[in-house]
Amino acid sequence: MKSRLFLPERPRRNRKSAAIRDAVRETSLGPEHFIYPLFIHEDAGDVPIGAMPGCARLGPEGLLAEVGRAWEVGVRMIALFPAVADGLKDPTGRESFNDDGLIPRTVRTLKDRWPELMIVTDVALDPYSSEGHDGIVAPDGRILNDETIEVLCKQALSQARAGADVVAPSDMMDGRVGAIRTALDEEGHTEVSILAYTAKYASAFYGPFREALDSAPRGGDKKTYQMDPANVREAVREAALDEAEGADMLMVKPAGPYLDVIRVLREQSALPLAAYQVSGEYAMLKAASERGWLDERKVVMESLLSIRRAGADVILSYYARQVGAWLAGES
Ligand code: PBG
Repeated sequence: MKSRLFLPERPRRNRKSAAIRDAVRETSLGPEHFIYPLFIHEDAGDVPIGAMPGCARLGPEGLLAEVGRAWEVGVRMIALFPAVADGLKDPTGRESFNDDGLIPRTVRTLKDRWPELMIVTDVALDPYSSEGHDGIVAPDGRILNDETIEVLCKQALSQARAGADVVAPSDMMDGRVGAIRTALDEEGHTEVSILAYTAKYASAFYGPFREALDSAPRGGDKKTYQMDPANVREAVREAALDEAEGADMLMVKPAGPYLDVIRVLREQSALPLAAYQVSGEYAMLKAASERGWLDERKVVMESLLSIRRAGADVILSYYARQVGAWLAGES
């Protein structure tokens, strides 16, 4: 049969079989692309997080089991977030640089068991602050930039001493990347990397995370340090600063609602780029899937592939272990 139309271009020809589709696929998604964020606490058992079904604050045994499962399916990078007991919180977050605190102890245990595991530790005061802010709060409510950086440097040092491979300042104070780099180098931790939360937006999508850590701000919001969701040029400026200050990798957060920001930073910087599919993004995908409104596996894979396609090298996702299992042919 003769064709009805003369069409010199028929893009569908490159979609006609799985073999061709696989051959021309532009973006890949594998377990090596993930950092798996995990919540830990001092208690022995695991406590499920209400708005994040499938995630829990893990005790030591639960953590080892979960890291083991992730490792088995090829997820070799994790990020740790501590839920700190109220009794250990104070206005300046002193527990954040306790060398025997929950994070340093956990890092040492994990490194003993899996020396090749890449451990990312979060540098910010919110889990340790009685005010629930990432920085020190002045009596008039302002978040003090330079005073906070002194504490962040101590926190990063205690994480590096414990064996953290990557420290990730998520606080959005100005100048913290350079200050942390200097502090690390002065103590000889030249191999410890900095993953900078470069474009971290003041987002409502962090809600479930704050429930998980009981770290919601006691007063005010985070808009004087986290970025305005309306801005993208500002992200370019933050990226230039983090790069100049010695960041090894940049991050955009949240991921899904900010794919344009990922794309712009991908084009502006030669550094590897991470993106954080945050707690609220996870919660949305979970909730709709649990109701049977969406096919969980398909929408999760599509949302993560989109983050990669936008230009992220690495994705922080609460789905990391599950994706590894799916890709390994498990359920
Ligand atoms: C705080 C921090 C937050 C997240 C990671 N680090 C919350 C916040 O800024 O209030 C959110 C992650 C998520 O929602 O999954 N330093």
